[in-house]
Order: sequence, then C-alpha cells, then structure tokens
Amino acid sequence: MATYKIAWMPGDGTGRDVMDAARIVLDAIGFDAEYVPADIGWEFWCSEGDALPPRTIDILKTTDCALFGAITSKPKDEAAEELAPQLQDKGLSYFSPIVKLRQLLNLHTNLRPCKAYAGNPLNFRDDIDLVVFRENTEGMYGGVEFHPLPQSVFDALCLNPKMKRFGDKGLENLALSTRIMSRQGCQSIVRQAFEYAKKHGRKSVTLVEKPNVLRETGGLMTRVAREVADHYPDIPLWETNIDAMCMWLVRKPQEYDVLVAENMFGDIISDLAAGLVGGLGFASAANIGDDYAVFEPTHGSAPKYAGQYKVNPTAMLLTVKLMFDWLGEKELAQRLEHAVATVIREHKVGTYDVGLNNTTLEVAEEVARNL
Ligand code: IPM
Ligand code: MG
Repeated sequence: MATYKIAWMPGDGTGRDVMDAARIVLDAIGFDAEYVPADIGWEFWCSEGDALPPRTIDILKTTDCALFGAITSKPKDEAAEELAPQLQDKGLSYFSPIVKLRQLLNLHTNLRPCKAYAGNPLNFRDDIDLVVFRENTEGMYGGVEFHPLPQSVFDALCLNPKMKRFGDKGLENLALSTRIMSRQGCQSIVRQAFEYAKKHGRKSVTLVEKPNVLRETGGLMTRVAREVADHYPDIPLWETNIDAMCMWLVRKPQEYDVLVAENMFGDIISDLAAGLVGGLGFASAANIGDDYAVFEPTHGSAPKYAGQYKVNPTAMLLTVKLMFDWLGEKELAQRLEHAVATVIREHKVGTYDVGLNNTTLEVAEEVARNL
C-alpha cells in the first residue's frame, strides 16, 4: 500500500494541463502515493446541477489531502443558461465549488507564498518574498446574500438607522452581500500568520484591513490582531488599509514579509502579490484546515488555453511543494523547490509568459530532470 492517498481533482480548463505537469514531477521525485480521481467543476454543474457532487466529498474523507487544478466560475445568469435542459427551471443555483469546499471542510487558512525566484524575467523586483495568510471561510465569501431584499431582512437591518435611506429605492431594487467575521476566525488567521513568522524567522506581520470604514468587522479584526501580537513581542504588527497596501505593494514590496487579511482582502492582495513575482503562473496556494488540506494554485482555469499545454505549470509545482511541506516531507519539498528555482534561473525551458516557447509538460519534464 502506498504511504499517502491523495485526492486528484484536475477541475476545469487549464487545471487539467497543470495537473498533468504535477504528475510528471510527483512520479519523478518518487513520492509514494495513490491518487484517487474526484469529480469537481463546471462540467458537473452543467450535467448534474452540482459542481461539487457528494461523491467527491466522500472521496476526500478517505484521503490524506487533495491536489486541485483550477475551477471555472461564472456569474449567476450565465451559470443558469449553461445548465443541461432537463435541469433548467429546477431552482438550482450555482456556487463556486472551491468556496464551498473551503467552508464544508473548514479549511480556514489560505497560505499563499509569493517569492521572486532569481532569473525570472517577470519579477517586478528580485528581492520580494511575501507570504499571504488569507482567512478562507468567512467575510464576504460567507454566502449570506439576498436579492431582492426580503421585507423581514430589511426590517431587521433597520435596527441600524443608516439602513432606512435604502428603503426609498424599493426592496426589489436592493441586493445585499454580507461581510460576517467572527472573533474565532480573526484570531485563528492572525495566530497562524504569527506562528509562521516565528517559525521561519520572518521580521514582521502586516494586517491588511479597512477599520476606518468597516468599523465593526475591520475593528474586530484589528483588536484581535493586536491581542494576538502581544504574545509575539519580537515580531512587530504593522497595520495598513487595503487601498494603501495595494499602493505600497507596488512601491516597496521588498519591505513586507507576512501579510494577513480576511477573505476578500486576502483574495485581492494575493493576486497583487502574485503579479509582483511573475503573475499567477508562479503563485502557489494551500487551503489548510485542522486535519485536512486542499492544495490549489492561485490561478483560475483560463478556459481559452484549455488543453493546449501552454500555461506555466510553476504555480502548480510550487503548490505540490506546499503539499510536501504540509505532509512533513521536508526533503521532497526542498528538492522540488530547488529544481523549480534552477529551471527558472537557467531560463532555457519555459512557457510563453516568460518569453520561451515550451509546453506545460516540457517545463515539468525539465523540473523533473533537475530534481
Ligand atoms: C482564489 C480565486 C477564488 C476566490 C475564486 C475562483 C472563487 O480567486 O482562490 O483566489 O475568489 O477565492
Ligand atoms: Mg483570487
């Protein structure tokens, strides 16, 4: 029997391309695992009305962790149109399966390292080494939304006098998305950011929020972050607003280290940070819970490139490295990162985004040769 059992979820579009690349490297490095395929993604929404079928959850429960390619998510109306004819008008509504997976399995922490590898021509600067800790289950991703606004919800919201002026527009004209955050959620993500900083000798933790406007949620997060920071006297807590952070990440990214944010702000800054180190083709990610994790690069499914083996597999390969870290396979993690770094530095084999013309799989094979 293999040492590990890994759920294998290519998902949509180029997710499949990069998962094929991952497999080349996993086999070459001698990772002893059984891979269990699991259905997830747009095609299952269209054909079954469920992008995350229950059988997939059952498979996940029998595995150590999951590797995931990418997902295609479309807005409500488009999703409804693409549903199989026999499923239309059944009241099915599309939700992003990865968001659901994060919540269902309580994968509360999204870890997203953004490091400039030497020799990458797409680096904004060569001295960037950021790690984003994104709260992964709460905030604006909680899914508590309404349109039109039910009268009872409107009445309840009128407990806050600021709600009244929206009533003039008519409830059918109002859409509501909520940002619900818990003390527990805030505490957990900030704690993990500090623990990571301590373990890896990082010099600071920066909280990205907007407490001057989002006074209650942003206020809670800020207070909790300060409480947590008191337990780590050697690591300073910096506080920035999301808008200013976007500017500073462009002006002086080298001065930042570990960033921590709630769900939506973490989503935003992780793409920005990825853009500084070569784009989404270089950005790895891990959705981590107490005893399960789903490893998934930050990028989407790029449907227009699907099946062409054109996209950069580096993000996926670095995501495999995060999986090795999480499994405690330190030696495999180091070898893989070293091989990826070598291929980037040599700049002989690479995909179109770095100005070369190799395929996704050729890059993976080159990484495999350097293991
Ligand atoms: C990400 C993605 C997802 C998110 C999408 C695909 C739902 O942008 O993982 O950052 O918003 O979390
Ligand atoms: Mg995102």
